[in-house]
Amino acid sequence: MTAATEPGPAPGVPLLEARGVSFSFGRGSVLDEVSLAVHPGEFVALVGPNGAGKSTLLKILLGSLPASLGSVRLFGAAPEDVHDRWRLGYVPQRPILSSELPATVEEIVSAGRLRQRGWWRTLRPEDHDAVHHALASVGLGDLAHTPLNELSGGQQQRAFIARAFASGPDLLVLDEPIAGVDGESQRKFRDSLVHLIQEHGSGVLLVSHELAAVARDLDRVVVLKRHVLFDGTPDELAASGVSLGVHRDDLPLWLEGLR
Ligand SMILES: Nc1ncnc2c1ncn2[C@@H]1O[C@H](COP(=O)(O)OP(=O)(O)O)[C@@H](O)[C@H]1O
Ligand SMILES: [Mg+2]
Repeated sequence: MTAATEPGPAPGVPLLEARGVSFSFGRGSVLDEVSLAVHPGEFVALVGPNGAGKSTLLKILLGSLPASLGSVRLFGAAPEDVHDRWRLGYVPQRPILSSELPATVEEIVSAGRLRQRGWWRTLRPEDHDAVHHALASVGLGDLAHTPLNELSGGQQQRAFIARAFASGPDLLVLDEPIAGVDGESQRKFRDSLVHLIQEHGSGVLLVSHELAAVARDLDRVVVLKRHVLFDGTPDELAASGVSLGVHRDDLPLWLEGLR
């Protein structure tokens, strides 16, 4: 990989930006004047109670739903004008399986590795390493040779996360990934996120309620409930009495109590 062939994250320009975004599915409003930005090298968590509009906001930010009001930019452009889609790694909350169904987990993740270099290439040793690391970081090392369609929904989502890790995106957007996995798996997952940010300068937007493993790594936490209720550092959030790290139930309980 050389600097000449890779656009890479441009300093200063947000990877992702919403300005005054409002949205409704018809009845009541789901998002009301939401503004949010993720810059290169930033690790941002988006939290909020169920139904707060987090998944909807991601879809609008990435161009699969139109905002009713306001504007969004992806890599500095309107989402529909972004052609280097490989620069984005997005794993939705409920990934839909496509024609890749008969492929094994390893083949899916390898496809992510080849995506930006061209399908005709063969995997080099460093690519195999990256695929192996990506699988291990989502706890799927033992299922590498299993067909994707034999996995549970949660495991399939993890396979898509591994594919995103292996592809080295400039921006990684994850919607409630690997909920409920054990502490050791949480740490491996955290290490891969931090590696992507520190080695590649990528930005990460993580929607999750389980932030204990990444509490010390986050640059910002955004709390959403139709409006942005908070946007600041974990320390600033802690100063208002909400800890991300100590008691893993604190955050979800606090979120559900928000009004
Ligand atoms: N396709 C849809 N049609 C109608 N309402 C929807 C649709 N998707 C989500 N909603 C509603 O929009 C609100 C926000 O949903 P969502 O963005 O999924 O929240 P979150 O991801 O924070 O749990 C909820 O009230 C949900 O019921
Ligand atoms: Mg959601």
